[in-house]
Amino acid sequence: IKQEIVVSSPIVIGHRGAAGEAPENTLASFKLAAEQGSHMVELDIHLSEDGRLIVCHDETLDRTTDMSGAICSLRSDVIREADAGSKFSPSFAGERIPFLEEVYDLLPEQIEINVEVKDSRGTQFDEVLLNFLRADNRLDRTVVSSFDHKLLLRLKQAEPELRIGLLYAADLIHHAAYAALLETEVWSLHPHHELIGADDAEDAIAAGLHIYPYTANHPAQWDRLISIGVTGIITDFPGRLKEHLRSVIS
Ligand code: G3P
Ligand code: MG
Repeated sequence: IKQEIVVSSPIVIGHRGAAGEAPENTLASFKLAAEQGSHMVELDIHLSEDGRLIVCHDETLDRTTDMSGAICSLRSDVIREADAGSKFSPSFAGERIPFLEEVYDLLPEQIEINVEVKDSRGTQFDEVLLNFLRADNRLDRTVVSSFDHKLLLRLKQAEPELRIGLLYAADLIHHAAYAALLETEVWSLHPHHELIGADDAEDAIAAGLHIYPYTANHPAQWDRLISIGVTGIITDFPGRLKEHLRSVIS
């Protein structure tokens, strides 16, 4: 008797674009992630001193650019002077730290965007983000995630159409039950990829949740996640994951 195992393919989510092959959170990285067939890209945001939504992982410019200083205390025109490409490779010299709207303008509409909020302390952050997402139907292609679940709850209450994703690196007893505690519709769980098992995934999917673990970069990690049935995988190498999925899922 031949047993047929039906495994559905998780979506490919490019982490900070395609951060393994291009400078993270730059337009070059998002372009590459799109060209490599990502269904969604993940990026990180902060608010500049003058209230612009800035795409960068760290609170400061120090690690990824040729400048230094905290994003929240710098004006956006100053932030734009930073070279965000050279530290990754001289071939990316001149890449800028993007404004969030540039990423939406760059990517084809069918590519979804996972906006991870890193720092929501800036003046009227919630209004700035929600007004941005409400314009041009951006809500339809966006999942907002954060380690700050109180922020997500607040955003969801202010904008019921918003899709929210819970980010966490905790070894929870019951993942779906935690999401249910929020008493609002949660779109997705974004656990650390090592901290979700088959039972967790089954319960979460039964509860109607998407599961997008982060950040898995190796075939053995991908295979485990595929086998437990996650619905997406966040990776620095979307091209490699896409290729891997082609080879393991018929
Ligand atoms: O959104 C998934 C992942 O990006 C969370 O961690 O530090 O890479 O932003 P970090
Ligand atoms: Mg992130």
